[in-house]
Parts: sequence; C-alpha cells; structure tokens
Amino acid sequence: MAVLVVYASKHGATREIAERVAQTMAAAGHRAQACPVTAAGNLTGYDAFVVGSAVYMGHWQKEATEFVRRNRAVLAGHPVWLFSSGPLGTEPTDAQGRDLTVAAEPKELAELTEAIHPRGHRVFFGALDPGRLGLGERAIRKLPAARAIMPEGDFRDWAQIEAWARSIAADPTLGTQGASGSAQEADGHHDARR
Ligand SMILES: Cc1cc2nc3c(=O)[nH]c(=O)nc-3n(C[C@H](O)[C@H](O)[C@H](O)COP(=O)(O)O)c2cc1C
Repeated sequence: MAVLVVYASKHGATREIAERVAQTMAAAGHRAQACPVTAAGNLTGYDAFVVGSAVYMGHWQKEATEFVRRNRAVLAGHPVWLFSSGPLGTEPTDAQGRDLTVAAEPKELAELTEAIHPRGHRVFFGALDPGRLGLGERAIRKLPAARAIMPEGDFRDWAQIEAWARSIAADPTLGTQGASGSAQEADGHHDARR
C-alpha cells in the first residue's frame, strides 16, 4: 500500500517521529514516505495517511489542522491515523495526576475526529532543545508554571513509535484494501508509481 505520512514540526522532533513511522512502515512492506503538510501536494495515489503535529499551547500546528480541513473529503475516504508530539519529561502524569498523553491531546482533536474519522490518535512524548527555541518560546519556558512541564531533553520513545507504526502496517484495512480502495481509482486517475 502507498502510505503518506505528513507532519507539522516547528523544531524537528515531530519530523523525526514522522520519518521513523514512514521508515518502519516501509520496512514492513508498504511504500511509505514522510513529508511536511506544507509540501504534501496532491494526495491522489495514496491508500492511507498518517498525519502528525507538534502540540504547542494545547494546539496542533495551524498548518496541520488546515491540511486536514482542506483535504477532509480525501482523508475521510481513506484509512487515516493521527499522532501528536507533545509532553516532555520522564513522568507519565502531571502534578494533578493526569495522564500526560491525555492532557496533551490537542484541542482540535474532536473536530478532526468528527471530520475524518481517523482509525486512531496517539500522543507521543516529544523533545525540547532550548537552543532551537525562539525568543517568545524561551520567555514562556521561564514562567513558573511552564518550567516544570517543559524540561530540556529528548523524551521520544522510539520503541513505542515503531510499535505503533508496525501496528498500522499490519492493520487489516491496509492489507486487504487492494487496488479497488485506492485513492487514484476513487479519483479516477492513473498512478504511474504502481
Ligand atoms: C513554548 C512551548 C509550548 C509548548 N506547549 C505544549 C503543549 O501545550 N502541550 C504539549 O504536550 N507540549 C507542549 N510543548 C512541547 C512540544 O510540543 C514538544 O517539545 C514537541 O516535541 C516539539 O515538536 P517539534 O520539535 O516538532 O516542534 C511546548 C513546547 C514549547 C517550547
């Protein structure tokens, strides 16, 4: 199956997650590639999609949300999985005892779910390199409330990310969909890559 993994990443952590998802799916036998949402272009010819974004101040990156809105007709007609890259640190819960992967769900998730009915959404821990932050981000990080939840470091769990990608690669909807469910036929186009 041809799988497009699209992502919105401000400082690179989410891009690397998307690339690992694509590599893992390719190793499992699919034609998978990762590209930024801003460079995705025509979605014709893909059988399934993975869409991921970094979470900032509780929101997906605007271009990722807009990508889904703009392409909702195509996405709603194909298997889609979403992921978010957000929480930082080594603790699974915040000071109030909330699961960080739940607390980090972007505010757009309900809208996106309603629009395209994804097969799933996963929150992965992210990474923060202070040297890459802009002035505004540095200022936010200095606030007392932010300090505890924005530690420096790389908290991405590659084994978990790869396991998720393998579970998508093995999803029966990809394995059994066949040519009749592919985007190019739905759109009436021939795909030269096949
Ligand atoms: C200013 C700022 C705000 C952030 N806000 C959130 C947030 O609301 N929720 C969250 O889970 N992570 C938040 N993070 C952490 C980032 O989402 C995390 O570092 C992510 O992996 C960055 O991905 P990127 O390198 O692809 O941009 C924030 C980080 C910064 C610097």
